[in-house]
Amino acid sequence: MTHRFFEGKDHASIYQKYRFAPPDEVKDILLRYLDEKKGQPHVLAVDLGCGTGQTTRLLAPHFKEVVGIDISECQLEEARAVPGFSNIEYRKGRAEELPFSDGSVDLVTASAAAHWFDHSRFLAEANRVLKPRGCIALLSYTNQNNSLSYQNCGEQLNSLYEEVKQLLMPYTSNIPEAQCNSKLEELYSAIPFPDKERIETEVKSFITLKNLVGFIETLSMFQTYKEKDPQAANDLLLNTEKRFLDEMGVTSPDTEIEWTMEYFCVLASKPK
Ligand SMILES: C[S@@+](CC[C@H](N)C(=O)[O-])C[C@H]1O[C@@H](n2cnc3c(N)ncnc32)[C@H](O)[C@@H]1O
Repeated sequence: MTHRFFEGKDHASIYQKYRFAPPDEVKDILLRYLDEKKGQPHVLAVDLGCGTGQTTRLLAPHFKEVVGIDISECQLEEARAVPGFSNIEYRKGRAEELPFSDGSVDLVTASAAAHWFDHSRFLAEANRVLKPRGCIALLSYTNQNNSLSYQNCGEQLNSLYEEVKQLLMPYTSNIPEAQCNSKLEELYSAIPFPDKERIETEVKSFITLKNLVGFIETLSMFQTYKEKDPQAANDLLLNTEKRFLDEMGVTSPDTEIEWTMEYFCVLASKPK
């Protein structure tokens, strides 16, 4: 199954601007796991479905070399344009056909991406390229159990956000979306390594209203809606920002909102 989302140039530049890296709590979970299972040295990490490179860059200080792989050349162009990461290489490719020799990779990651892959072909490739005790770390947040809060109007903001999600729901690609919301249940069961676990964690952070509206714009369901009706999609973003400002009683889209998100990590280590 191949999904051709995230391919357009506009989508890629919005992605670079508004998609955020996984929080440090999540990065620490996967690095601790790798240390515990495989230990040092951390030579090569491969970040699949790297998009514009948010997670790839997060890994860079912890490995000798990091390779980001994505099927979308536009996403990769944005990733390559970020300066200052001399140990990262970005390559066009797919998670199901990895350009690495057998037993050569310490860590394979995919952040908010594994739900798009062909699971059995991806797992066969991960198994092939990983070193003994090398690890898989698939991370993401779900589209559920998230909540927004600003002073005493959290409930109103959550119901506004829910309204936007409901409006966009008909434009989701149902299978990957459901897989992500089930925290990759099927993929987790299919991992052929006995040593595996799934960790969930709630992370609180702050996001400006402007960036929250930008995040909505990055969603593949929003992009599908925009293709069908560009004017309505544009109006949705403007109205959402306006309605949030009214509820919060402020005028600046730079006002910060607290956002609690549920993240999960599917972790597995290849046998010796
Ligand atoms: C939701 S984005 C996540 C990007 C980035 N990892 C992040 O955390 O923001 C999913 C990415 O997976 C890529 N993708 C989808 N299917 C893929 C596949 N089979 N192999 C490699 N990349 C794929 C898409 O092009 C897209 O850039």
